[in-house]
Amino acid sequence: MLIRNETTADIPAISRLVTEAMLLLPQSTGTEARIVEMLRAEHALALSLVAEEQGEVIGYLAASAAWIGTQGGWGLIGPLAVLPSRHRQGIGTALMAEAVRRLRTTSRGAALVGDPAYYGRFGFRSFPGLSVAGCPPEVVQALPFDDIEPRGELLHHPAFGLE
Ligand SMILES: CC(C)(COP(=O)(O)OP(=O)(O)OC[C@H]1O[C@@H](n2cnc3c(N)ncnc32)[C@H](O)[C@@H]1OP(=O)(O)O)[C@@H](O)C(=O)NCCC(=O)NCCS
Repeated sequence: MLIRNETTADIPAISRLVTEAMLLLPQSTGTEARIVEMLRAEHALALSLVAEEQGEVIGYLAASAAWIGTQGGWGLIGPLAVLPSRHRQGIGTALMAEAVRRLRTTSRGAALVGDPAYYGRFGFRSFPGLSVAGCPPEVVQALPFDDIEPRGELLHHPAFGLE
C-alpha cells in the first residue's frame, strides 16, 4: 500500500469512496464528498492523501486550515474514509500517521471531529472549552504540537457548512 498525494485522475474514485464509506456512519450527512470537492475547488485542501493499492484508491484523508477561537494555524483532519471492504487492515491508521507527520511541519496542531474511541490512539483528546456548535464536546478533539491548550470554537472552512 502506498500513501501519496491525490492526482487529478483520483478525483472520481475519491468522491465515490468517501460517499460509500460515510454511508456507514449514522451521523453522515451524505455531503462529505461534496465538501471535499468544494475544498478542492477553493484550493483549501492542505492535505489530500490517498491510500493506493494495485492502482486502486482504497483510502482517503483530507486536511484543511482551521482556527480554534482566535488562534489560526491548526490543521483540521477530515473526512477520513476507507473502502468498507478494506476496513481493519491498518489503512486508516497509515493515513492518519502520514497526515500527522506532515501537519507537524506546517501547523501548530491537528484537530478533528470524530469518535474518540478511534482517534484517541493517535493522541487526540478533548479539551475544556474546545467546541463545535451542535456537537457533543467529547467528539471535538485536538492534538497540539506544543504545550498550548486549545480553547474555543474549532472553526472549519465554510465548505463544511457549519456556520
Ligand atoms: C474509521 C475508519 C476510517 C477506520 O479505518 P480502518 O482502515 O478500518 O482503520 P484501521 O484498520 O487503521 O484501524 C482499525 C482499528 O480501529 C478500530 N476502529 C475502527 N473504527 C472505529 C470506531 N469508530 N471506534 C473505535 N474503534 C474503531 C477497529 O476496531 C480497529 O481496532 P484494532 O486494530 O484494535 O482491531 C473506517 O472504518 C471508515 O472509513 N469508516 C467509515 C467512515 C468514518 O467513520 N470515518 C471517520 C469519520 S470521523
